[in-house]
Amino acid sequence: MTADDHRWSAATRQVRSGYESGVPQNTVTVPIYQSAAYEFESFESARDIFALRRAGNLYSRTGNPTNSVLEKRVAALDVGVGALASASGQSAVAIALLALVRSGQHVVASSKLYGGTVDLLDDTFADFGIAASFADPGDVAAWTAATTSATRAWFVESIGNPTASLPDLRALADAAHELGVPLVVDNTVATPALLRPLEFGADVVVYSATKFLGGHGSSLGGVIVDSGRFDFGARPERWTQFTEHSPRFGLTFLTDTGVSPYLAYAKAKLAHDLGPALSPFNAFLLLQGIETLDLRVRRHTESALAVAEHLAGHPSVSVVRHAGLPTHPDYARGVRDFPQGTGSVFAFDLAAGEEAVGPFIDRLELFTLAANIGDVRSLVVHPSTTTHSRFTAAQRDAAGISLSTIRLSIGLEDPADLITDLDAALAAVALQEAHS
Ligand SMILES: Cc1ncc(COP(=O)(O)O)c(C=O)c1O
Repeated sequence: MTADDHRWSAATRQVRSGYESGVPQNTVTVPIYQSAAYEFESFESARDIFALRRAGNLYSRTGNPTNSVLEKRVAALDVGVGALASASGQSAVAIALLALVRSGQHVVASSKLYGGTVDLLDDTFADFGIAASFADPGDVAAWTAATTSATRAWFVESIGNPTASLPDLRALADAAHELGVPLVVDNTVATPALLRPLEFGADVVVYSATKFLGGHGSSLGGVIVDSGRFDFGARPERWTQFTEHSPRFGLTFLTDTGVSPYLAYAKAKLAHDLGPALSPFNAFLLLQGIETLDLRVRRHTESALAVAEHLAGHPSVSVVRHAGLPTHPDYARGVRDFPQGTGSVFAFDLAAGEEAVGPFIDRLELFTLAANIGDVRSLVVHPSTTTHSRFTAAQRDAAGISLSTIRLSIGLEDPADLITDLDAALAAVALQEAHS
């Protein structure tokens, strides 16, 4: 059975989409096709597949049957026209943007992003001759003001990591389209279980599948999903990679590659040339995770809200940045756009300040100190010395992170146990304060 025709609900698609049993060994679960290369039927078929005249397996750097089930399943959940899997979320973000933005061009990105994405935009993209400007995700006018004739993408996280900022995606998509620019949304923290950015007008969605999609903290992976809606032909001079004939490929991506010229280009050129291929074994593990996505995310989300509410009432905590709390600046947007809740990654500040962070974290027993999110285990990290350590003070301010900000990713343990653990660590820090 395949269910990617969208007649079925998300819970059915997350288990069924993309895989048809019966070919070739009747396995019920998705087989791991652990093969680097594929035998071509004939000289002619090898030539046609290489020339992109015929679809078919070529080499696992640009496609693999296990990875292809993952691609179809995530595309089905986001209701996109197709997807491209890659080795990590970082490579998915890089490829998603490099397919749109070239040397001499420009990206406008949210000032509240995962630190690794800021490193990519601010440092490595600068080496490539690609400029980036950063704008507050809540201030659409600032994005329009930052856009120039060289801008080729807007990039935002649907739930910002780590302070749970929620952009007005519909307003951003409308403003981007007004300027002829596609909106790319990193939906890692929300997942399609909480929000589907394409339904809010986004053009491309990217994931670190390492996080909630896989859900078990075992495997890196990334996915790019295309809506197929952005009209590259409307301003052909801006998008020559799609609209002009490519001598290398002997075709014009826009007219010769089907429903997603964007993914065809990303795959044939960027995945092929840069080589961040997803291991089929990781694709298999990520698929195992996706099959329970809605159940896990519901539990993560409910537990995180309970923990956030508890911390918000604790005297040793100065602020909690969880968009499910009425004190969060984006609370109303959460109520409007996130009927199932705003996820399980959030941040809080210790009232005792920076000095208390180390003793607090080291006193925790259940929370694992790790630079990751979206694991079945609850995780804790101190962004300003780890994930966001390369931020300047101004970047930290714009991201809403202070030196005493602590990020939590709430797992699937009993939330009462998590609260007990946090309380014990907060009490130990308060006692230490009282004695110093
Ligand atoms: C929101 C977000 N996007 C992208 C990434 C990069 O993903 P990966 O670690 O799978 O390369 C991360 C990693 O923490 C992330 O949190």
